[in-house]
Amino acid sequence: MVASAWRTPPPQCALALLEVAQRVPARPAEGYPIRRQERGFFRRVAGRPAPFGQAQDDRQPDAGPHGVRGRARGRPGQGRQDDARDTEALKNVDEKEKEKLVRQKIEELIGSIGADRDLARTSLGLKNLVQDVVDEVMGLGPIEMLLRDDEISEVMVNGPKKIYVERHGKLVLSERRFRDDGHVMHIIHKIVAPLGRHIDESSPMVDARLKDGSRVNAIIPPLALCGPVLTIRKFKKDQLTPKDLIKYGTLTEEMCDFLAACVRVRLNVLVSGGTGSGKTTTLNILSSFIPPDERIITVEDAAELQLRQEHVVSMETRPPNIEGKGEISIRDLVRNCLRMRPERIIVGEIRGGEALDMLQAMNTGHDGSLTTGHANSPRDMIARLETMVMMAGMDLPSKAIREQIASAIDLIVQQNRLRDGSRKITHITEVAGIEGDLVVLQDIFRFEQTGVDERGKILGRLKPTGIRPKFMHKFQEEGIVLPARIFMSKDEESAAW
Ligand SMILES: Nc1ncnc2c1ncn2[C@@H]1O[C@H](COP(=O)(O)OP(=O)(O)OP(=O)(O)O)[C@@H](O)[C@H]1O
Ligand SMILES: [Mg+2]
Repeated sequence: MVASAWRTPPPQCALALLEVAQRVPARPAEGYPIRRQERGFFRRVAGRPAPFGQAQDDRQPDAGPHGVRGRARGRPGQGRQDDARDTEALKNVDEKEKEKLVRQKIEELIGSIGADRDLARTSLGLKNLVQDVVDEVMGLGPIEMLLRDDEISEVMVNGPKKIYVERHGKLVLSERRFRDDGHVMHIIHKIVAPLGRHIDESSPMVDARLKDGSRVNAIIPPLALCGPVLTIRKFKKDQLTPKDLIKYGTLTEEMCDFLAACVRVRLNVLVSGGTGSGKTTTLNILSSFIPPDERIITVEDAAELQLRQEHVVSMETRPPNIEGKGEISIRDLVRNCLRMRPERIIVGEIRGGEALDMLQAMNTGHDGSLTTGHANSPRDMIARLETMVMMAGMDLPSKAIREQIASAIDLIVQQNRLRDGSRKITHITEVAGIEGDLVVLQDIFRFEQTGVDERGKILGRLKPTGIRPKFMHKFQEEGIVLPARIFMSKDEESAAW
């Protein structure tokens, strides 16, 4: 049983081992069976556990089965007392120490079963097995290893048997598995319970955050038909910098200089893009161009922005409680932040009625505001904004809304995730005014695709369209000099010479 578990993929193996650990009958004569009395380990395993594969006979003669001296054996109720003391002892140690103690015991446990059942043949396999059990006990089970992997940016659990990850911008099916729906549910509870949130049939969706700031969404049956679904956007400790984005080909140096100047002269910028296209990352980078002496107020659903400036007030929305009360929405926070003397308002994402408050703020002296929205093109973004404003329930005529949009938004930065997994700023578009009923859009930079190479990589160029924006005078007023070549296509540049 143990040997077959050993050959199965790691998670099942770990769980099987845990099951074995609980079921193996005491066999005093051979090896090191697991006894109830041998619980209460944290206090006792201060000594070095026997390394895997080491002959158990090497241990000190008066040591107990786990190489620990003078252990209590078989006194009635001893196991429970020891457990209580262990739990108490664990309360007083930090997470790292706790994990060390748990790992020690698991190594000891697996080592003893391994020796007993001839499991200790490959030390690498045993190491993986220990890690799996530690992850199960201390972390988020099968996905813990994926969360540790720096190359993975997103983890998507579609029921117990399908775990997808995003690696280098591409979605791939991982080899990790949960045992069953109950196992996924257990991990979801482990995430949401410490936050005072709950998930069950009557409230089957939840947004949460891991301790490291990663964004989590869970949705369970009956709403999710394939079993419990978990989506984790990993928090990047080392946020991408403008240099990284230039290196990845998301934008050019010239585009970056232009955007930095736009933020400095307090233009209102809207980053538009599809899901996971990199809107928040770009918003974070745009925010980094805000001068350090300005008071910045940020409003987000789940705090993802990492501003380096000193004077920042960050606010986060609150979901309703179990009785459906107490919700504080993005809209509430946007309205509140207008009374907080903001010099810059940054809203993580606009999705509904808050768009109207944001436009009004931008039109009434709170310029230099930044936000993001879901849309596939700048034109689409304008249409989406109009719909969002209607969601505010003010019954404004379409024309009035478009006028508001045209006078509030100066620039749309369109970001897309291309088929090869790369992220590109495909348009930097000026909102140039309104003509009749139509908001006038003018591309300043654009990505032009030329083809696809043999490995599926999308080829193309990010180029200026040659048109200079109407707000050029603002750069001059602020003393910002942008070289004329920034707006010139390569052909124009060579003609100028
Ligand atoms: N320019 C980029 N190049 C490569 N990877 C990027 C780039 N921008 C963002 N990413 C990565 O893509 C993932 C999604 O980024 P981000 O959270 O900024 O997207 P988003 O559009 O805000 O997503 P959502 O719609 O879910 O809010 C992150 O893991 C991030 O590190
Ligand atoms: Mg985002």
